[in-house]
Amino acid sequence: MMKMRIGQTPPLRLVQMTESQFRIWSSQSIERYALEKMRVMRCTRAEAERIAQRAFEARMPHGLSSADNFLRAIIYGADTVVGFLWYCIRNAGDRRSAFIVDLIVDDDWRRKGIGYHTMLLLEEAVRELEVESIGLHVFGANTPARALYASLGYEVVDAFMEKGLSRGAPRAR
Ligand SMILES: CC(C)(COP(=O)(O)OP(=O)(O)OC[C@H]1O[C@@H](n2cnc3c(N)ncnc32)[C@H](O)[C@@H]1OP(=O)(O)O)[C@@H](O)C(=O)NCCC(=O)NCCS
Repeated sequence: MMKMRIGQTPPLRLVQMTESQFRIWSSQSIERYALEKMRVMRCTRAEAERIAQRAFEARMPHGLSSADNFLRAIIYGADTVVGFLWYCIRNAGDRRSAFIVDLIVDDDWRRKGIGYHTMLLLEEAVRELEVESIGLHVFGANTPARALYASLGYEVVDAFMEKGLSRGAPRAR
């Protein structure tokens, strides 16, 4: 596929994930999260996998039918699956917000506007649910994702910062 320019509307839609897609996607999603955790927390792989597994089960106790969680396959054209999106809806008093838990575009389909247009489709879908805002968490080192969200107007509202103190690291003035 040619690179789509932002502004054009590609033939994309979001479709409920199937059980078989869920089985494959969930183990990959947990694995990806574990790898990020391992890097950030500097823990062992086994420990990171335990944390990731527990976090996933807490959010999705009933798999695909877990309340307030939306699992979508990203479909290009007639039926080509090009990625997956997981978001949930949160209620705090009168305020309703959406939260993106995971977004992945297949390697071969990256930098073609799929992530960007998926996020716009998500906006449309949650507007219908009277959602006021969309939030997400992104690891600091995830440059592609941070650039994607910034290009869509997402702003940092909270930041967890860290400085390594290994020998030889420069001191602040
Ligand atoms: C992050 C991700 C979803 C982006 O999807 P994508 O379809 O490749 O993104 P798009 O093609 O729509 O890119 C839109 C904009 O995002 C930014 N962007 C995307 N990938 C980038 C990269 N590798 N480097 C720098 N900027 C990037 C650019 O601003 C880009 O616009 P441009 O192509 O006109 O420069 C994809 O890289 C991915 O699946 N990564 C692994 C999973 C992940 O990290 N998910 C996010 C979890 S928070």
